[in-house]
Amino acid sequence: EPSRFLEGKHVLVTCGATREHLDPVRFLSNPSTGKMGLAMAAAARSCGARVTLLHAGSVDTGGVDATITRHAFSSTDELFRQVKAHADADIVIMTAAVSDFRPAQKHEHKVSKDSAELSITLERTPDILQWLGENRKKGQILIGFAMETRDLVPRSREKRIRKKADWIVGNDLTMDGSGFAVDTNNVVLVGEHMEKSLSGSKKSVARQLLQQIFESQVTG
Ligand code: C5P
Repeated sequence: EPSRFLEGKHVLVTCGATREHLDPVRFLSNPSTGKMGLAMAAAARSCGARVTLLHAGSVDTGGVDATITRHAFSSTDELFRQVKAHADADIVIMTAAVSDFRPAQKHEHKVSKDSAELSITLERTPDILQWLGENRKKGQILIGFAMETRDLVPRSREKRIRKKADWIVGNDLTMDGSGFAVDTNNVVLVGEHMEKSLSGSKKSVARQLLQQIFESQVTG
């Protein structure tokens, strides 16, 4: 029986890939399956938290516990609206793989392939984690994720500071058994005063992350 150290806490978890449509049948996205986020939600629930899960429509939520409240999103804007509606959570875990760019123009009808070339102008999406960091409820714990193919630790440190998050969980995409669509993970947890490598199944890593974060919040 796991200890219920998150009893009385509201935990918001986001997971899966956003989709940014160019037209009704084409979109920009990424390979995230949402597994790490589902594991974080399940771990938080088993530690006694009330959990709200914002998941991409493409995420398989078949195994999600019925006591976890779920809302589906598609675009970054939609996710942003849902996050704002739950921004009073005690702990926010941003595992969602949010697109950094989106087509500047969304066509109402399918774009035809009559031309030999097509240029698409992309614009930046809003950074939801950074918005949370800048509009943070007092005492809220903010956890972001970072996927990198190089300089994992320095980039995670930089991200933690820039986005005003408490913790960044860095994920090295080049390591075996890490990243998208696998059941295991090797991560580095980067906080203000401590950094720690964790590995195992995504389920076990999720549990270890919550434990570590909780312990260092308690001991300061
Ligand atoms: O900047 P980068 O995408 O590497 O940061 C990853 C972290 O920031 C993740 O926690 C992700 O959910 C969050 N993010 C966000 N809004 C964006 C891009 C990333 O909240 N537009």
